[in-house]
Amino acid sequence: MPFTIAIDGPAGAGKGTLARRLADHYRLNLLDTGLTYRAVAYALIQHALPLDNVSAAETAARQVDMAKLDRAVLSAHAIGEAASKVAVYPTVRRILVEKQRAFARTPPGAVLDGRDIGTVVCPDADIKLYVTASAEVRAKRRLAEIESIGGTANFAEILADIVRRDERDMGRADSPLKPAADAHLLDTSEMAIEAAFLAAMAIVDDALARRNKA
Ligand code: DC
Repeated sequence: MPFTIAIDGPAGAGKGTLARRLADHYRLNLLDTGLTYRAVAYALIQHALPLDNVSAAETAARQVDMAKLDRAVLSAHAIGEAASKVAVYPTVRRILVEKQRAFARTPPGAVLDGRDIGTVVCPDADIKLYVTASAEVRAKRRLAEIESIGGTANFAEILADIVRRDERDMGRADSPLKPAADAHLLDTSEMAIEAAFLAAMAIVDDALARRNKA
């Protein structure tokens, strides 16, 4: 199996930025697995189909093209919420997980981020990180992000959205969000992303040194 870094955590904890930094630094492929669930939700919304139409969601999942995941289109807040709803269906998950595993097997290896990477998608990953932050800190960051591009939003509404999404992602029966038993925990509540990156790098360098010795 090529070198794999699995990053899991709740929405807005900074795992996407961390994944990108690590993939750049170690020259690995990068997959934001959230985009695959978002692509399914987006397809249903485009066809005006309800999000609980499981057979349509399965068809959309089969049609997900890993080379054509368009972040600009899929990053809308409402699509994230919808993605969290279609992500509860085990058959949809199985189809997407197969595609994610094929991506991880592609040399030279990959950084994958999501909710179930260390527990389900790549349980044998070389490194597992669980990146978290308090819901309040995540809501503050999301608000700052929206304001930085000239938008406006309400802190209480953002916080309520985050709490609701956490509950759905952690509470579902299939592949709930949780740290793998052997994951390194990184709480970014009081940590800048640069510090989280340095901490993650130390963990990865250590694993690479051990792998090269073996
Ligand atoms: O990381 P994100 O916000 O783009 O993810 C959107 C939703 O997709 C998330 O709320 C739950 C689902 N998801 C999942 O169930 N498993 C993953 N590995 C990634 C995302």
